[in-house]
Amino acid sequence: MTSTAQELHPAPTLEPGRTILELRGLEKRYPGTHALKPVDLAFKAAEIHAIVGENGAGKSTLIKLLTGVMPRTSGEVIWEGKPEALATPHEAMALGINAVHQEVVLCRHLTVAANMFLGEENSRFGLLQQRAMVKDAQKIIDGLGFDLRPMSCSATSPSASSS
Ligand SMILES: Nc1ncnc2c1ncn2[C@@H]1O[C@H](COP(=O)(O)OP(=O)(O)OP(=O)(O)O)[C@@H](O)[C@H]1O
Ligand SMILES: [Mg+2]
Repeated sequence: MTSTAQELHPAPTLEPGRTILELRGLEKRYPGTHALKPVDLAFKAAEIHAIVGENGAGKSTLIKLLTGVMPRTSGEVIWEGKPEALATPHEAMALGINAVHQEVVLCRHLTVAANMFLGEENSRFGLLQQRAMVKDAQKIIDGLGFDLRPMSCSATSPSASSS
């Protein structure tokens, strides 16, 4: 895995009560739709939040803005006291903002290791560090006790197809 994200943005200190993420008037409009009305929210360390709302309330839109999938129309996102653009998914991931999706979509033509590091590939001077990624993948797989081979294709791997 590329170490740059962690080096640039060390994990926030998790003293309870400390504000990690703050949304100020975060809003999204599409032509003809006000997808997310301005949201003001503060997320403090060691807190767990649940966002509940009717269909079309803007829950997915909020997550898309926070994960850099979609640009906001207006508002601010303050991470660790600093305004962040969150213009791309990479920017969000580098800060440590990740979405864990209910339905995981695998690229079935790629290997198990390639799927595991999708979007977070280990590269040096623009070249993928395949051997390092396979080694790291094997370590994670062994740690989890799965019967998977990092270089097998995820479409053919027996354990990868069972949910
Ligand atoms: N790309 C888009 N272009 C135009 N309108 C959109 C787009 N994405 C979402 N919307 C609209 O924005 C509003 C909020 O959608 P969103 O998907 O965020 O709601 P949600 O709370 O996640 O709903 P659900 O509970 O159905 O998942 C809806 O009216 C939706 O139709
Ligand atoms: Mg949704």
